[in-house]
Amino acid sequence: NSKARITAIGSYVPERRLTNHDLEKIVDTSDEWIMKRTGMKERRIAHEEEFTSDISYNAVLNLMERYNKSVGDVDLIIVCTFTPDFKTPSVASYLQAKLGINNTGAIDLNAACASFTYGLHLANGLITSGLNKKILVVGAETLSKITDYTDRTTCVLFGDGGGAMLVEYDEEHPSFISAHMGSEGESGQHLYSTNLSHKMHNQHLNDNGLIVQNGREVYKWAVKTVPKGMQAVTEKASMQLAEVDWFVPHSANLRMIEAICEKSQFPIERTLYSLVDYGNTSSATIPLSLDIGVQSGKLNNGDKVLLYGFGGGLTYAGLLIEW
Ligand code: ACO
Repeated sequence: NSKARITAIGSYVPERRLTNHDLEKIVDTSDEWIMKRTGMKERRIAHEEEFTSDISYNAVLNLMERYNKSVGDVDLIIVCTFTPDFKTPSVASYLQAKLGINNTGAIDLNAACASFTYGLHLANGLITSGLNKKILVVGAETLSKITDYTDRTTCVLFGDGGGAMLVEYDEEHPSFISAHMGSEGESGQHLYSTNLSHKMHNQHLNDNGLIVQNGREVYKWAVKTVPKGMQAVTEKASMQLAEVDWFVPHSANLRMIEAICEKSQFPIERTLYSLVDYGNTSSATIPLSLDIGVQSGKLNNGDKVLLYGFGGGLTYAGLLIEW
């Protein structure tokens, strides 16, 4: 049984907006196409000197201010991202320095868009086993820095932003109920970014470092995989999907979320997503969506919430929590 509780949440998005109409001036697309196929209106874009560590730092400051929490005694920082400032040091180490936290571990975690649910799962495991007491889990990305703005099939999707959560030891009121995760590395070539020219599964890859995605394949895979995963997480908790108050999937595409909900017979009205104003922010979509739920007053203490991340890898990770 879990002994860990999520005690605070914070978020941050860059000021600069990139609307569908702005994208019409960059590539051959239209506001109508983007809205109909993805549900997205705009995304936020970091400025040249703004990196994932800055977004992470601002998300943690937001958490501290809103919940009157100190992070000086955090004993592990996990930053979930696949757009780190540097290959090394990690964003987590850089964030540790910016926050001035002493005596803490610091690691980055990369499972693409499933990173945040993997990160929360890890934090729960470490605290429940007694190895850690207070863990900061951040999901932050600057996807604009690796987006190909000549490729209309991907550049309309991605944006920048971040969210942070504090997970603390609490035996009496644990947040974590059940989890389910996996990876299908055989299909990794459908979504990647690399600047190395070696092959993957005998296929040559584009090595300019920018995101390459076979959108149709990822779409089909997600609509097939996520409903089964949702079922698996709730079954592990001996619960029915109908008992879940809020479903928080990775915000990749509203059409895809609708298809997942339809297949699972879960009402779309009880789904939280951040894609309309922020686009697909990978590791950040789940904390951003949860924070939208908190700030709009939809999400209440005691609600059963099913988080489901999926993406590059291809990876997936679902968590059932009590808010
Ligand atoms: N504007 C106008 N037309 C476009 C655009 C655009 N931005 N993008 C593609 N098109 C065109 C295509 O060229 C194609 O034209 P054609 O029929 O003449 O060939 C047509 O629209 C349909 O293209 P599809 O790729 O079939 O469009 P689809 O409806 O599948 O939507 C999309 C594409 C939005 C990318 C969708 O497939 C998707 O969202 N996939 C899932 C992505 C995802 O979930 N990623 C998750 C992980 S993200 C991560 O881990 C970082």
